[in-house]
Amino acid sequence: MRLKQFLCGNEMERMPNMAFKAMSIIFKIMDLFYPFERRISSFGIKEGFTVVDYGCGPGRYIERFSRLVGEGGKVYAVDIHELAIESVKKKIEKYNLQNVDPVLVDGYLCDINDHTGDAIYALDMFHMIKDPVSFLRELHRMTKTDGFLIIDDGHQSRKETKQKIANSTCWHIVEETKPHLRCTPL
Ligand SMILES: C[S@@+](CC[C@H](N)C(=O)[O-])C[C@H]1O[C@@H](n2cnc3c(N)ncnc32)[C@H](O)[C@@H]1O
Repeated sequence: MRLKQFLCGNEMERMPNMAFKAMSIIFKIMDLFYPFERRISSFGIKEGFTVVDYGCGPGRYIERFSRLVGEGGKVYAVDIHELAIESVKKKIEKYNLQNVDPVLVDGYLCDINDHTGDAIYALDMFHMIKDPVSFLRELHRMTKTDGFLIIDDGHQSRKETKQKIANSTCWHIVEETKPHLRCTPL
């Protein structure tokens, strides 16, 4: 089986369970050696924010996001994979994260109201998206007019990422750094 097929599965973006479990273990090991604190501090999360972690995977960032937004804020942990939602639920219980809501998404239709998020994060997942225009428009729908999107390339080139963002005609790239792009809604 080709590696890409194993990691991404054949239909939509739902990975096979084995691949999801393997990925979760790899993330745990990576986070031991390369803690993500510094990266998160550049994300601009403020107390009281509503944050959407879109494609949250096993939820490695949610505890930190939850503490940063505080009691008055909210974190939506969104994923297309049931195992991601299970993992997020376990973290909510373990760390008593009362401001985190797991959201299982079907395709690109997400059960989050229009103009909800101050900050939307799509990290290490954009390369998995088969219909980037629909995906980016859905993120746009749930973002506040003065909110922003932080998106990274995942396993694709920066050129590809920027082309897909341009094709969506709904995001403006306002900042570009090596790790990610910051976009505001058009
Ligand atoms: C490589 S993981 C990254 C997880 C997390 N963002 C991180 O950086 O640790 C990619 C995640 O995106 C999810 N995903 C892929 N396509 C998706 C979609 N259309 N909607 C929601 N989640 C999706 C996958 O199920 C997987 O959990």
